[in-house]
Amino acid sequence: MEIQIDDYDSYVASLAAVRPKLIDSDKLFNERDVYSPKHSDRVRFLVISDSGEASDELTMTADAMAQYTQQYPIDFVCGLGDNFYPHGVEDITDSKFETHWAEVFLYGDTRKGLCVPWYMALGNHDYMADNPHTQVIFTHSDINKNKYNSMWRMPAPSYKFAYNLTILPESNVATSAAVPSSSGKQPLIECFVLDTCACQDHVLEYWPEQVEQLKHNIAALKRQLLASNARWKFVFGHHMLHTQGFGHADTALVLRDSHEHNIKLPPSAFTRRYNEKFREYGILGYGLEQVLIEGGCNAYFGGHEHVFQYTFRHGIHHFCCGASGADIRPASGFYRGMATHVQPMDWYGQGNDYGFVSVEANMEECVVNFHQARSILRNVRNGINDHSNSIICSVSIN
Ligand SMILES: [Fe+2]
Repeated sequence: MEIQIDDYDSYVASLAAVRPKLIDSDKLFNERDVYSPKHSDRVRFLVISDSGEASDELTMTADAMAQYTQQYPIDFVCGLGDNFYPHGVEDITDSKFETHWAEVFLYGDTRKGLCVPWYMALGNHDYMADNPHTQVIFTHSDINKNKYNSMWRMPAPSYKFAYNLTILPESNVATSAAVPSSSGKQPLIECFVLDTCACQDHVLEYWPEQVEQLKHNIAALKRQLLASNARWKFVFGHHMLHTQGFGHADTALVLRDSHEHNIKLPPSAFTRRYNEKFREYGILGYGLEQVLIEGGCNAYFGGHEHVFQYTFRHGIHHFCCGASGADIRPASGFYRGMATHVQPMDWYGQGNDYGFVSVEANMEECVVNFHQARSILRNVRNGINDHSNSIICSVSIN
């Protein structure tokens, strides 16, 4: 299939047609917003995923996120898909933007710290809408601009943004090999949001053209990663590349491995069906992991599994941030249970509670923490203003 549109503005306009023409993927990633963080030397943000049900659990997570921001102001939030269960949103006036997002996260004095840009990705449930790109159209709408101060940010299904330090401290210029010493400036973080939904069978059934779009997007992502001189390169998508969840191992494999790796999905009735489906569409694997490795990506953030998971593979840190408030399934919380009953040594997984993920990066170090919402709220009730007690897993990258 030919990529037919190479102009970003006409692409965004075409999204209303439900089946937009495919776009030259570099145009998507070139629509880059560049910001300065609140603190002169660091950027801090929160990540959630699978937040599409306005459940009591999601409200608890929102409470905990808000509490966290009172002590640690953040620059933005990332929402990594399945933003609206079960079938996305109908149009830009859909009340779910209000009831499932604004009312949960944005309103009231306690929520002021969460009134920041929300960079959103599409998940497979968002693709179950009549027009899965409604959330993109909403981003550019007057409703988002006037009612929500343009906080909803999904300028395209795949896009990028960056936070730059205005002036890099002299000491860092001297010690950071990636910085041309003559410039004295370097993006602190560059973030690439990738629409990964074409790795999921039910998405392809209705939106088969997304196969070609994802292939192009991943090729463009590689060029963009290689061209980036940011201190930290982060990639965000809905589907994980590595998971111990038995039911979602197939999407991870299809997204992660390439045709050349001769993917063999685990032998089960479910994955046999999956194999057949993907052969039908001529996909044996998108090869995203190799692109992340070659492009120097530092960390990949995703969801889809309603749990917290962390692993380190081939130089890349993988964080699953899906435990924000959606249904936690039986058997350790992982969808259909864990693929193995013994947790690998190099693996962290927690499927029994809800919370969020915080990321703080400066030029030397990036710290990613998994926060258990219940513990934060318990601390608050007991008058303890120390969120470190609620951290259930902490990863330091440098
Ligand atoms: Fe999902």
